[in-house]
Amino acid sequence: MERPDAAAGALILGIETSCDETAAAVVSESGEVLSSVVSSQADLHARYGGVVPEVASRRHLELVTPVIGGALERAGVGLAAIDRIAVTRGPGLVGALLVGISAAKAIAWARRLPLVPVDHLLGHVASLFLRPAAIEPPFVCLLASGGHTMLLDVRAPEAFTILGSTLDDAAGEAFDKGARLLGLGYPGGAAIDRLAKEGDPTAYRFPVARVPGLDFSFSGLKTALLYTVRDLGPDELERRRADLAASYQRAIVRALVERLEAASRGAGEAPVAVVGGVAANSELRGSLPDAALAPLAYCTDNAAMIASAARFLTALPCPSYLDLDAYASAA
Ligand code: KG4
Ligand code: ZN
Repeated sequence: MERPDAAAGALILGIETSCDETAAAVVSESGEVLSSVVSSQADLHARYGGVVPEVASRRHLELVTPVIGGALERAGVGLAAIDRIAVTRGPGLVGALLVGISAAKAIAWARRLPLVPVDHLLGHVASLFLRPAAIEPPFVCLLASGGHTMLLDVRAPEAFTILGSTLDDAAGEAFDKGARLLGLGYPGGAAIDRLAKEGDPTAYRFPVARVPGLDFSFSGLKTALLYTVRDLGPDELERRRADLAASYQRAIVRALVERLEAASRGAGEAPVAVVGGVAANSELRGSLPDAALAPLAYCTDNAAMIASAARFLTALPCPSYLDLDAYASAA
């Protein structure tokens, strides 16, 4: 990693703690990532089959300072080189968010720096504005993660309108629940992705509900897998696991691609992009040769995308952010 020099411009320290990743990053004003440190708590939550909010908050508390220190160290800068602090304000787990927000306030206030509160979803979109593969709006964006599945009309880097969203489970949640039924552990998206490569995606026909407009629904798919697994029994399941993973993944990817293409047509053949944890899925990436895809390192939660979004947002001057609060759900 190159060290910054005077020409690198303003530096932003990003902090992200909305779910089960404690992350910090240093990003330049021009969108160059100087460092991005992500400490995942996935192993900690795996035994519960999902994120336990109170456990997540406590772990963030332990990790937030070393992770921020690590990001500065890897960037080769001290806090004196940082011009502003960016932090995820929501949506997410409020207790988890508050850990990042408190750390951000403390650092910003101690150095009298401005602070930029960032919406997590806008952060995912801003993973597309990082160098060296930065793209520019307008585009239609599929945001598919563990918590959200949405189609966004992005006309400017700092704002979007929602064209459609899931009526029940998020795509990442569908991957995670499917993985659990197949005995693949949590979080299961990457595990299904790996196993699917060894299976036949046409072995099973899993239905995906066709809801009107540009919305999604994945809960029926999960139930279809549940019944199939139950009917197979343990021995047969063992033999057919890869086929099930491949067929299940195919159904999710088809639903996502179909809706994204429809949204693009509706917006006059607008260019398309994909962000969020599910954007790491190899079949989804392979199915969209013309799409702008979030770089693999910045698909799942990270702080580089949060700092990236902050480049386009208004910073709150010191000390006006001291009463800043978190929000749990999308505004
Ligand atoms: O964006 P993210 O880190 O967190 C949220 O904001 O929710 O997304 C995490 C989700 C999980 O559900 C995980 O299973 C899924 O992204 N995921 C994948 C892959 N890698 C992560 N899903 C499918 N294929 C993958 N390769
Ligand atoms: Zn996310």
